[in-house]
Amino acid sequence: MKAVGLFVLACSSAVWAATPVTFHKDVEPILEKHCQGCHHTGDIAPMPLQTYEQSRPWAKAIRSAVAQKKMPPWDADPAYGAFRNDRSLTKAEIDTLTSWVDAGAIEGDLKDAPPPREFVEGWHMGKPDVVIQIPQVFHVPAKGTIPYQYISVPTNFTEDKWIQAVELHPSNRKVVHHINVSATPPPAAGSAPARGPSGFFTSDAEARMLARLKPGQEPPQFQSSREGDLLQTFVPGGVPPELEPGQAKLIKAGSTLMFQIHYTTLGTPQEDQTSIGFIFAKEPPKERIKALLIYNTRFTLPAGSSNTMVGARAEVLHDFKMVSMLPHMHLRGKDFQFRAIYPSGESEILLRVPKYDFNWQINYYLAKPKLLPKGTIIEVTGHFDNSLNNAFNPDPSVDVHYGEQTWEEMLNGFFDVAIDPTTDAAPLLLGPGPGPFLPVNATASTLAPASNVATRR
Ligand code: HEC
Repeated sequence: MKAVGLFVLACSSAVWAATPVTFHKDVEPILEKHCQGCHHTGDIAPMPLQTYEQSRPWAKAIRSAVAQKKMPPWDADPAYGAFRNDRSLTKAEIDTLTSWVDAGAIEGDLKDAPPPREFVEGWHMGKPDVVIQIPQVFHVPAKGTIPYQYISVPTNFTEDKWIQAVELHPSNRKVVHHINVSATPPPAAGSAPARGPSGFFTSDAEARMLARLKPGQEPPQFQSSREGDLLQTFVPGGVPPELEPGQAKLIKAGSTLMFQIHYTTLGTPQEDQTSIGFIFAKEPPKERIKALLIYNTRFTLPAGSSNTMVGARAEVLHDFKMVSMLPHMHLRGKDFQFRAIYPSGESEILLRVPKYDFNWQINYYLAKPKLLPKGTIIEVTGHFDNSLNNAFNPDPSVDVHYGEQTWEEMLNGFFDVAIDPTTDAAPLLLGPGPGPFLPVNATASTLAPASNVATRR
């Protein structure tokens, strides 16, 4: 038996040695699958990687970018959670790219090449029922850093709409690093005074929480979204996963869309006029996908400090399924974590981003939505580097607080949940949840502190 095994091994390594890794046979399929989404003509990456001639000069840069996991951009720690839109390379793929470069980056035979990847110019989701465009062309200057653009556009929807598909469409993909669009309903008649700073929760729970505040006192660290319901995100490299059959998002009549757009400069003046398209659901949904947000507005990052932890948490008031998570910080953000502390006291890291990268506002879609039963505490924590050592720090000499501008900071944990579509009015979260925060770099053995999480019932 042993002899046979050895023989097979010897044979296969001989075959391997005789057929070196080539561009067309081994490398091109990986580039098509994992790289060309951004590295194709007209998209955000600085160079296309669609042909041998285009890729060969970058061979060494490709080797180091994939070895260091800088490319493709994907920041989730693989030890926690599995994600539908995971675009990271497997170890075998990294090895293939590395061996190709090490062996001289040979082209190989064109007849081994996979069919070229096609890029959809129009809507991936199909023909939209309605398209809404930002009202004016945005002129992207040749150089410099552009503050986030906030552009508000009315939907003019005269009735509530169930949305089965929604897609963002920059007119110039080369300059758009991310777009987050929220839909904020108009204040309900008579409920305006009860609205939080979020303009989002109009629930009794939040109204009660706000009523407990003394005049002039700010709400506690947990709030819901200030910009309203995060509706859809765009990052380069593809489109977010579609909703499952039977799922839909709700846009209330009279809602306003707020586009937050992060433009990047290219060295030449550019223009963009982004659109959003909607396909309406043909029948009432079985599940509603709703956006929630846990965030902290009351923190100070002392000037020069290199590792300040900030956290926020909230309690789940009705069972729901977690569908996706989007960490959001600015230029001083170092790492980010979502954790669930279940009513049993057990806890679980749902997403950990060990090296947060401001340039890639990635929305992580769970491969399998996670049930978070009533009583679960959702905790988001992150660390910030406000020191000189942070090359992206706009100014290490000032104390930094919460704020929308990129020189201010944020700790926002956005997430989508799937709920029963009829439970619209019910509040889903209440905060701040109790208990000490767990540092982002906690190891599995320091988790599950059943006893130190008090339940507030
Ligand atoms: C989501 C978009 C995206 C994907 C996917 C992507 N890249 Fe990139 N890549 C970029 C952008 C944008 C840059 C420009 C530098 C930056 O912003 O990080 C870049 C830069 C690079 C560079 C230059 C790095 C340097 O040090 O200057 C290399 C090499 C590279 N990418 C290789 C790859 C390879 C190989 C893959 C696939 C395995 C890949 N990229 C996937 C967007 C992407």
